[in-house]
Formats: sequence, C-alpha cells, structure tokens
Amino acid sequence: RSLLDPVPPIPALIASLGYAIFAFLAVAYLIPRLGPSFVKANLKGRDLLKTYDTPIPESQGLICAAVYILFLILFIPFAFSDVVLNLRGPESHKPTEGIVVPEFPHHKLSVYLSSLLSLLIATLLGFLDDVFDIRWRHKLPIPIIASIPLLMVYYAEQGNTNIVVPIPLRFLFGTLLNLGPLYYVYMSLLSTFSTNSFNILAGINGSEASQALIIAISVILNDLLYLPWPFGFHIPLHLLGSQSEIDFGGVYKAGMAYGSMELVERHLFSLCFMLPLVGVCAGFLYHNWYPARAFPGDTLCYVTGMAFAVVGIQAHFSKTLLLFFIPQIFNFLLSCPQLFGFVPCPRHRVPRFNKDTGLLYPSKAVFEKRPPSRLASLMLKTLAALHLVELSVNETGQQEVTNLTILNVFLVQLGPMKEVTLVKVLICSQIAGSVFAFFVRYGLAGLVHVN
Ligand code: UD1
Ligand code: MG
Repeated sequence: RSLLDPVPPIPALIASLGYAIFAFLAVAYLIPRLGPSFVKANLKGRDLLKTYDTPIPESQGLICAAVYILFLILFIPFAFSDVVLNLRGPESHKPTEGIVVPEFPHHKLSVYLSSLLSLLIATLLGFLDDVFDIRWRHKLPIPIIASIPLLMVYYAEQGNTNIVVPIPLRFLFGTLLNLGPLYYVYMSLLSTFSTNSFNILAGINGSEASQALIIAISVILNDLLYLPWPFGFHIPLHLLGSQSEIDFGGVYKAGMAYGSMELVERHLFSLCFMLPLVGVCAGFLYHNWYPARAFPGDTLCYVTGMAFAVVGIQAHFSKTLLLFFIPQIFNFLLSCPQLFGFVPCPRHRVPRFNKDTGLLYPSKAVFEKRPPSRLASLMLKTLAALHLVELSVNETGQQEVTNLTILNVFLVQLGPMKEVTLVKVLICSQIAGSVFAFFVRYGLAGLVHVN
C-alpha cells in the first residue's frame, strides 16, 4: 500500500471530524439544560472572583466526559471500517481463493479499549473528587493504577523503552539508553502528572478548558505532520540549523525507528481521540468563558489529562507531549513548596478579587502557625530574587508570600488585571509554550533528539 494512498485514513478522519462537530454541539446544548439538575444535587460552587453569589453548576466535566466517551464508543466501527469492509463487504469485496483474508487487528482493538478504560477510571476518580474532596495522598496513586491497562498494551506490542541521549551527554551514556522498567514508571507518572497539573492551574473562568483545548490542537497539528498527504511541501529546517527534516506530505524522516505505516496509524489513532476532545472542550468553554455559567470541576481536569496521557503513551510520543505541558510543568515545580508542606497551602490559591477596583491581585499564603523554616526561607528568597513571588510581613508580624502559582506570577510581574485579561495571558503563554515545543521538537531535534 503506497504511503501516498490517502484511501484508508480518510473515512475514519472524516467520521472523527464529524463526531468532533457533534460533540461540540452536544456539549454546548446540554450544559445549560443539565446545569440546574447539578445545582439541585448540591454540585454547585460560588464564583470566588465575582461580586455576586449565584450558585454556578459544578462538575460539568461529567457532561463533557459522558459525551466524549460516548462518541469514542460510537466511533469504534469507523476505526475498523477498512477491515470490516474487507472481511464482510459486498460480493465484490469477498476474497477469492489464493488471496489472504486480512486478520482482524485484535491488537488495535485492545489499544482502543484499554484507552477507553483509562478514560472511564479518570472520569470516576474526578467525579468522586468533586463529591468527596479526596485527599492528595489518596488521589495521586489512582491515575497510576488507571494507566496499567495502557502500559500492558504498550508492553504487548514490544513498545520501545529506549531514549535517545542528547548529544552533550553521549560520552556518558552512549547514543541510546534503555530505561527498561523505569520507562514504564515514567509513563505511569505521566498520567498522574497530566491529570493533576490541570487541576492545580485552575480557578479562573476558562482556565481549565482553554489549557486542554490548546494542548489538544497542538497534538493535532503534530499528528497532521505524519499523515500521508496527497500534496506536500517541505519545511526547510536546515535554515534553523537543524539536521532533521519535515516533509509535510511525506513522513517526518529523521530518526524514524518504525515502519512508516505504523507511524501513520499511531498518529491517526491520536487524531481520533483528539478531534472529539477539541469539540468537547470548545463546547464547554463557550459556557465557562468569563463570566462563567458552568464550572468544570475536577472531572474535566482528570478526563482531559488522561486523554493526553492515553495518546502520548499509545501513539508513542510521550516526550513530545510533555513539551506541550511547559506552563503546567512550570506551575507544578513552582507549587512544590506548597504541595509538599514547606509553605502553608490555603484551600484556594486563586488570585484575590478586589470588589472596588474589579481587578485581580496576587493572593497570599500566611505563615500563621510558625515562621518559615530555614529551607523555606531560602526557597522563597530565591523565588523572590527571580521576581516570581513577593514577600511581605502583615500587621501582626507574620511572614506572607504570594501563592506559588503561575497565575499569581503573571499578576506579580504584569500588575493587577481583570479576570478575563488574566485568562487571555494564560492562553497566550500556553500558545507560546506550544510554539516553543514545535521549535524544540523539530528545530532542535538534531541537537537533543526528543521523540
Ligand atoms: C485547586 C487548587 C486551588 C484552587 C482551586 C480552584 C491547588 C493545590 N489547588 O483545588 O488552589 O483554588 O483548584 O479551582 O493548587 N472556582 C472559581 N472560578 C473558576 C473555577 C473555580 O471561583 O473559574 C472556584 C469555585 O468556587 C469552585 C471551586 O473553585 O467551586 C472548585 O475548586 P476545586 O476544584 O474543588 O479545588 P481543588 O481542585 O481542590
Ligand atoms: Mg479542581
């Protein structure tokens, strides 16, 4: 089968695109209609950054997850359309003697079903977290367990556990380093990271859904580079000093470890999971945009995070995927002193809203019980020197620090602003992160070799 033969992927792609549009419409239609039932069931929240107290339906991510998973299930026949046609097609499609009947790709189906299973577990966990407010130490290991089906399937197809060592470190480790079981540990941690990292970069209208939307679009753009387009153009990366090449319309050539068709199929799989996700997130964002009429809850953070872990692992581009999470990685590293108890962590770290000016200001954590330890002081002074936090002392002489989140960093650096401006700043930083990721992945790939 020629690589330039666009026949097999096209029906699946068109179906997936159709589902994405339906998913958008379904979510946009259902949220305002089902919201009141959530409020009645006490799944509601107060918008912390507004003057009004109207209860806003919480956990609307459950509607998004339901629509998303439903469409992924309905998509199964399309994903296997070429096989189904070949096996049980009309008379003309029936194989004649001597021609080998293609075997049903049970393996592909197990990849698909294990992905659905992980998404379902993530939905359940997110919803339970919304209802019961699960403790951090209990909810951290659950996505690791949810990723076991994915890892088993990865193992079954003898998934690669090598990493290409960046050139400057090759004298130590050689060109290829086999991480073996450690690679599986890394992939299971990826699912915990992607699910929780959205949840701690949250709290202003539109933040959760827009992060997921931009990452999903970035993954889609990356996938499109690997499809066998009937037309093509060449991106001259050597002008950027890169040793690798992208042939848009061929397949990305540098360091290709697998047969091309396999690579195409993996990225098609990723597209089929990402297109409906874009539809769902866009439909939700419509109602979650400032001033929000619906809150995502932890459910949306967990489902979208797990969807990214699924495609990163199953389509074998987990390192490229992590590059799209730059703002989340930064926010997580910055949050560590609060998450691990060196600095007090209030229930909500969202910026502070001033009713009089209508603007957001950095919110603060106060060392109420005891003054900062020496280690905590050192951390905070370093962060203050980098202009990431502001230190102060309140009227009662207690040490205060602006909460360690990227949203507060924006406010420290750019000054007070409106909520809707802050979410736009966040969106810009996410887009800038993705542009940088593409540059590192394809521009610098000759230097660092990530894939
Ligand atoms: C995480 C954050 C917490 C942040 C919260 C906001 C950490 C360790 N935890 O906690 O600091 O305050 O998310 O989502 O970083 N809300 C708004 N506007 C929005 C979205 C949410 O006011 O646009 C408020 C609502 O009151 C809503 C509540 O946040 O009910 C949801 O918080 P929840 O998801 O339960 O917080 P956590 O995920 O535990
Ligand atoms: Mg949350």
